Amino acid sequence: MIFRSIAATVALFACAPATAATIVTADRMLDVQTGRYVDNPAILVGNDGRIVSIGNLASMQVPAGTPQIDLPGRTLVPGLIDMHVHFDGTPLIGGYRTLEYTDAFDTVLGVPNARATLHAGFTTVRSLGADNYSDVALRQAIDEGFIEGPRIIAATYALGATGGHCDANTNKPSLARTSPGVADGPQAIRQKVRELRKLGAQLIKVCATGGVFSRNTDPGAQQMTFEELKMAADEAHMLGMKVAAHAHGAEGIKAAIRAGIDTIEHVSFIDDEGIRLAKERGTWLGFDIYNTEYTLAEGAKNGVLPENIEKERQVGTLQRQNFQKAAQAGAKMIFSSDAGIYPHGQNARQFAVMVRFGMTPLEAIRAATLNAARALGRERDVGAIAVGRYGDLVAVVGDPMRDVTVLESPAAVIKGGKLVKAP
Ligand code: ARG
Repeated sequence: MIFRSIAATVALFACAPATAATIVTADRMLDVQTGRYVDNPAILVGNDGRIVSIGNLASMQVPAGTPQIDLPGRTLVPGLIDMHVHFDGTPLIGGYRTLEYTDAFDTVLGVPNARATLHAGFTTVRSLGADNYSDVALRQAIDEGFIEGPRIIAATYALGATGGHCDANTNKPSLARTSPGVADGPQAIRQKVRELRKLGAQLIKVCATGGVFSRNTDPGAQQMTFEELKMAADEAHMLGMKVAAHAHGAEGIKAAIRAGIDTIEHVSFIDDEGIRLAKERGTWLGFDIYNTEYTLAEGAKNGVLPENIEKERQVGTLQRQNFQKAAQAGAKMIFSSDAGIYPHGQNARQFAVMVRFGMTPLEAIRAATLNAARALGRERDVGAIAVGRYGDLVAVVGDPMRDVTVLESPAAVIKGGKLVKAP
């Protein structure tokens, strides 16, 4: 139904002035740059999906017949950005149970996962690791209009050490396999960065330390040397890509920051020196502090191995304390949820945890908008309701600057000026 009316709108406008495709009106919008609400905004979005002007409906030049999306009683916030998702697979099937399913099963699940994420108000995501280049396939299918989903910036395979967090470690020796993302030593890493980019990666993800969900790895232990991390960062930057590092342990975090990596994911055991370094270097920190509850409550039932649940117990609480410390110290923060280890579409539940552990609602919202866009190097495209950026808008009922949980159930979602979820 929604799609039919969108198609009709686009067709109608094919012959109209190139400037205006849709006008969006609501009770108010949050300007994340000033941190203030603007009452009764009218947002004109052009045929290219970008915002042409923002003003007052009465005093604006709007071509006659411009379709209007009117959202009375709603507050608009910028389309949200999750800097850490995995669209392949489902958290409902964990541990050895994943071996019962064929490889493309995970890829197929990316389709409903991408849709659920978009409908939850996340109009841009970073895919930080996906098998079979499935994130590239999803991006292509979304961009060409075959399926619904957010804008995707894809890392493809996570790059890491043999036997490390991002290798495939569940099989016995006679069945052992190596992830296509594995590379050891700086030269091999240079080659791997080039290869991943050739095969569709738009950013590089490295696994600097062990992790919670991998077999036989220690989250606190560093798994890539400084030289390896520096090679990944330098090579990616030379090719115009950003780099994200999975890092729980304090030494791995600091090595990644010193190597010039752009964003640190998890950040669980960061120490004072690490926080100081991150501030000094302008490194963005993405603490995934919602998912602990989900794993501890549902993990065992889903098949997650006892080893991994035990590691979650050791990481979760400390990670939240360190989030609070880093936020209070004024470190640069982004919204990274690691959706995929909990159900896609629940991403916004992390806002309440960020507020519970010390952020103001505005700071938490900025982490998922303004800051995320900066960390992506995409502040001309996304991250604010502003002229020139895409018309990515989320309509909520209530006051998100008082109660961030209103972001958990958006009334409407607009991507590039098109209504993808109707009130
Ligand atoms: N992908 C991450 C890992 O396996 C998930 C960590 C989740 N736990 C947490 N407390 N953030 O290491």
